[in-house]
Amino acid sequence: MKNEFEKHIDNYLNSLRPCMITDAIRYAMDGGKRFRPRIIFSIMKGLSLDEKLSYDAALALEMIQTYSLIHDDLPAMDNDDMRRGKPSLHKAFREDVAIITGDELLNDAFKVVAQSSSYSPQCKVNIISALGKYAGLDGMVYGQLLDITSDNDSITIDKLKEIQENKTGGLFKISCLIPMYIAGLDKEEYFTNLGKQIGYIFQNQDDLFDLIKSEEEMGKLHSDVKNNKGTALSLYSVDELKKVIDEEFDELYSYLEDAPFDPVYLKELIEALRNR
Ligand code: IPE
Ligand code: IPE
Ligand code: MG
Ligand code: MG
Ligand code: MG
Repeated sequence: MKNEFEKHIDNYLNSLRPCMITDAIRYAMDGGKRFRPRIIFSIMKGLSLDEKLSYDAALALEMIQTYSLIHDDLPAMDNDDMRRGKPSLHKAFREDVAIITGDELLNDAFKVVAQSSSYSPQCKVNIISALGKYAGLDGMVYGQLLDITSDNDSITIDKLKEIQENKTGGLFKISCLIPMYIAGLDKEEYFTNLGKQIGYIFQNQDDLFDLIKSEEEMGKLHSDVKNNKGTALSLYSVDELKKVIDEEFDELYSYLEDAPFDPVYLKELIEALRNR
């Protein structure tokens, strides 16, 4: 049975004008792990807030996540033919349709928050600004630029961290900021640093799994070596990288000791991340 958030996504999909872009959005949104929304929900619980209040913002973020993956898979980017356990959008539909489907998901993400009945006008401005900032040139888009202009031979540890903080940490910063805005807290530095740390871990794991986990399990093909990507495995052996990830988890746990919310729910999710 679908959980409440998946039903919320379905309601959004059912509200769209029937056309090929809507079919493509439905196809692309299906099958994600929803890790960024789940971070939002865990922090909402830790703030004693109803997680449903965050659904529109979480949907907007998952839409941006989905658009970023559609574009990341395009032939001009990582040229990956599989995503979320099935053919990538440009393979299942068409390349031109995949490009404009990504465009539409980004446009519509802002509309979803702007039209939400869950937030005050100020809260909407805060969420929309964070989406624009950290999914854009202060986050994901900048990280993708660094990613496509680096390679396996030239990458350094500083560059790797900069890529990870932006391309992956960008959206995790938004996950952490959304509940903060909904709660009306003013602790931007704490929450962005939390998202940054989760981003390091998540991308290091993703780089590791690109080599050691099966394509079936990941729902996508191994492509970093094929693309001569500058990843964590350009700098560390598998065992070294596992150690780096363990240390980053330890740092994350110690950071959570100062959390301005009850961290018990987020810790559960982080434990699931650790065991994935
Ligand atoms: C993939 O993110 C992109 C990276 C930052 C590595 P996810 O692994 O969360 O992908 P989905 O959303 O579950 O498909
Ligand atoms: C992409 O990183 C992160 C995005 C901003 C889309 P990757 O290129 O490593 O993500 P996967 O492995 O294709 O999911
Ligand atoms: Mg990529
Ligand atoms: Mg990729
Ligand atoms: Mg990857």
